[in-house]
Amino acid sequence: MPHRILVTGATGTVGRQVIAQLLETGVKVRALTREPVDLPPAVEGVRGDLSVPDSLHAAFDGVEAVFLVWPFASAEGLEMVLKLMAETRRVVYLSSAAVRDHERQAERLIGRSVPQWTILRPHAFAANTLRWAEQIRGGGVVREPYGQAAMSLVHERDIAAVAVRALTQDGHAGSVYELTGPQSLTQAEQVRVIGEVIGHPVRWEETSPEDARRQMLARGWPAAAVDGILRAQAEMTLGPAPVTATVEEVTATAARTFRSWAAEHAHAFEAAFPPDQPAGPGLRTTWAEIIDGGL
Ligand SMILES: NC(=O)c1ccc[n+]([C@@H]2O[C@H](COP(=O)([O-])OP(=O)(O)OC[C@H]3O[C@@H](n4cnc5c(N)ncnc54)[C@H](OP(=O)(O)O)[C@@H]3O)[C@@H](O)[C@H]2O)c1
Repeated sequence: MPHRILVTGATGTVGRQVIAQLLETGVKVRALTREPVDLPPAVEGVRGDLSVPDSLHAAFDGVEAVFLVWPFASAEGLEMVLKLMAETRRVVYLSSAAVRDHERQAERLIGRSVPQWTILRPHAFAANTLRWAEQIRGGGVVREPYGQAAMSLVHERDIAAVAVRALTQDGHAGSVYELTGPQSLTQAEQVRVIGEVIGHPVRWEETSPEDARRQMLARGWPAAAVDGILRAQAEMTLGPAPVTATVEEVTATAARTFRSWAAEHAHAFEAAFPPDQPAGPGLRTTWAEIIDGGL
């Protein structure tokens, strides 16, 4: 097992879970963050910015394995960052099942420069449904296009569980893991499950893709990203989403259902949730709750 592991994206949906699960293995955990943040006492926090290679020397010093989140829409700069990982022999990279151009490029660069690499290609995260929290709290109706778009949503703890195996155990080098939840659900079905879990019916109301496009553009999203999302959702209406057995094969535990994810995050969708608090991935969770397996 590596002596010390660096977790990037340490404040994010998956990185927080990777930290919590690594702590259970007894390995030394270092977290890269851009700002000072609250971390569990056993975690060494190091400041750095992945877009500023010179800021990363301390983070990579003495690190044998890295959980790599590359949170940019381009692979530019990654090669330079990989060159700084002189002592790192193992990288687990959080790619995506969509394998967009920059992700494919990042996978190639990592494959060329790291002795032991593992690529995680998750499908859509269950946590993406938190974007509906405000609409659900505000009246139990979700208004979006493509209610029949099907996804096999994956729980962030399952992605982290696979990452932790690949970081700490032998036998995962050179593997590309496509990760899904255990079931394909349409967006309308996801909304219904949330309603069942919170005990109030939640309804899907179909809107036009043109309206959704206008709204996303008004929120400042780049047109290319908006069109990419809408195109992908339109394609997802064509049939059920693929379901892989990878989470269970790697972790020996069945992938968590969307219903269990929704139950863990029910508070975000309930009317009692403070209206001024945005529903985000780290929502009202403390490190103690995450480490205890709560959220
Ligand atoms: N959402 C999905 O459905 C989905 C599906 C497949 C793959 N993915 C991939 O998952 C990745 C995102 O993972 P996530 O959802 O766990 O993360 P997240 O919750 O979106 O958080 C992003 C993380 O990246 C960090 N970060 C941002 N800019 C940084 C910089 N310049 N230097 C260092 N750290 C920086 C953030 O730190 P701060 O606290 O400093 O902002 C935060 O920890 C993306 O690459 C995405 O393509 C997502």
